Amino acid sequence: MIEKVKEIEQRFKEQFEKISSLKELDELRIKYLGKKGEITGLLKKIKDIPPEERKEFGRAVNALKVEIQELIQAARAKLEKAEKAGKLDLTLPGKPVIAGKKHPLIKVVEELVEVAVGLGFEIVDGPEIEWEYYNFEALNIPEYHPSRDMWSTLFITDKMLLRTHTSPVQIRTMENRKPPLKVFHPGRVYRKDPFDASHAPAFFQAEGLYVDKNVSFADLKATLEMFTRELFGPKTKIRFLPSYFPFTEPSTEVLVNWGEGWLEILGAGMVHPRVFEAVGYDPEEWTGYAFGLGPDRIAMIKYGIDDIRLFYENDLRLIGEL
Ligand code: PHE
Repeated sequence: MIEKVKEIEQRFKEQFEKISSLKELDELRIKYLGKKGEITGLLKKIKDIPPEERKEFGRAVNALKVEIQELIQAARAKLEKAEKAGKLDLTLPGKPVIAGKKHPLIKVVEELVEVAVGLGFEIVDGPEIEWEYYNFEALNIPEYHPSRDMWSTLFITDKMLLRTHTSPVQIRTMENRKPPLKVFHPGRVYRKDPFDASHAPAFFQAEGLYVDKNVSFADLKATLEMFTRELFGPKTKIRFLPSYFPFTEPSTEVLVNWGEGWLEILGAGMVHPRVFEAVGYDPEEWTGYAFGLGPDRIAMIKYGIDDIRLFYENDLRLIGEL
């Protein structure tokens, strides 16, 4: 009886070699493994085999069954792949490719840079990890002064911190250059603030600094007016409110009229004489203005986004991808 198993195996292999389509493969499967198939027939015969041979016979039939199943399965995978490839339809429309788009914050920062360059500012850079000296001390914010509380600071060591504003770049630039100068610096800043609808622990700022002889508050006003008109349109109304910053005197806050109300988008003022002293400029000779814009705020106003967290959550709907 064991010869019969060998014979079937032989026959299967011969036929299996010749298979070239899924249909043929399926026919072969039915012929051997189907209800009336050869293997099934052998299995049915087990009970008629004399007990001494039964074990060996059963084992051989089952081994063959498994072998055939495996061969068929492997062949099916191969044939399916081949048939699929053969059916490649070049006339089908392609899958849409998602092209990258700029994040609204980056768009605003780039726009700010463009306006600044148009107004004659040179773009400069500075580090995000900063010395306490540049972030505070040199900006006329001594250690004991309560105005330090205006910036909830993430300290790294006693003397090192994550900059809370872009103003340290004022100091770094002036330390390295002789006046006159007109520079602009966009970058990221950090604060120990809760992440809520209007606060983020990391956000953008952009700093402008102009130092020359006889710079007046009127120059600052004109520059900021031009900035806001470029950003929000020629008819935009802005409002200057008196404010306080230790490194500018006098200081102002600028609000822009948008929708229902007035929204603060920047702080500014005339460079404080103490700041000039810290960098070795003679305050009797040099004058200047400085301002700090908030790109996150500006982007929220321009694009009607009411929660700052959306900028940092990677939701593709924000850039109009979905
Ligand atoms: N650095 C200030 C802030 O973060 C903004 C500012 C910049 C004010 C320059 C005046 C001049 O609030």
